[in-house]
Amino acid sequence: MKFFIDTADLNEIKEAAALGILDGVTTNPSLMAKVGITGADNIKKHYVDICNIVDGDISAEVISVDFDGMVREAKELSALHPNIVVKIPMIKEGIKAIKWCTDNGIRTNCTLVFSAGQAILAAKAGATYLSPFIGRVDDMNWDGILLIEQIVHIYRIYGFETEVLAASIRNPLHIVRCAEVGADVVTCPLSSILGLFKHPLTDLGLAQFLADYKKGNG
Ligand code: E4P
Repeated sequence: MKFFIDTADLNEIKEAAALGILDGVTTNPSLMAKVGITGADNIKKHYVDICNIVDGDISAEVISVDFDGMVREAKELSALHPNIVVKIPMIKEGIKAIKWCTDNGIRTNCTLVFSAGQAILAAKAGATYLSPFIGRVDDMNWDGILLIEQIVHIYRIYGFETEVLAASIRNPLHIVRCAEVGADVVTCPLSSILGLFKHPLTDLGLAQFLADYKKGNG
């Protein structure tokens, strides 16, 4: 399972990259706004900065909602760096744009996915990645992990090559459950990745080992 970090914060990206287990980065317009990156040129420069930190797939999201605008943005974003994957929303125009990108060698991440039906459409259009938002599904009293399991099951039956990228992850348990049901990728806030380290028995055991070493070695 690939690990992506879900942030536009360069310090967080550097911290996760330093662990040596980071495979990519996802961003969205809200995450860009959160770190104060505004204006088309600044946003593009920020994507390049991220590409220079992480050698892996970096999702850059379009803001157009019509086919022509999405295709224009897809060309511009994909030209920034070979690792850019163009993030396109799950709407009718988006599916048409994903198909155009597939036919023209531009890799895509279909975003804002909340159902298996939407997942089938994106795979048919040839999306490279599919981003079901599991935290937002959970927020609606539904089961985000069940959605990932259902999509993975359908994709395996038909051999779709689209990778299931579980997004909107809220905690470390989401990551473990995604691994259990076969997600190809998880994109996580730094806090959820760091949460995977936590276990009180690890801390207690390490303290005991160090104390015993000190007793014997001064
Ligand atoms: C990433 O691809 C998504 O845009 C992101 O995970 C959404 O997360 P949120 O539901 O916490 O905003």
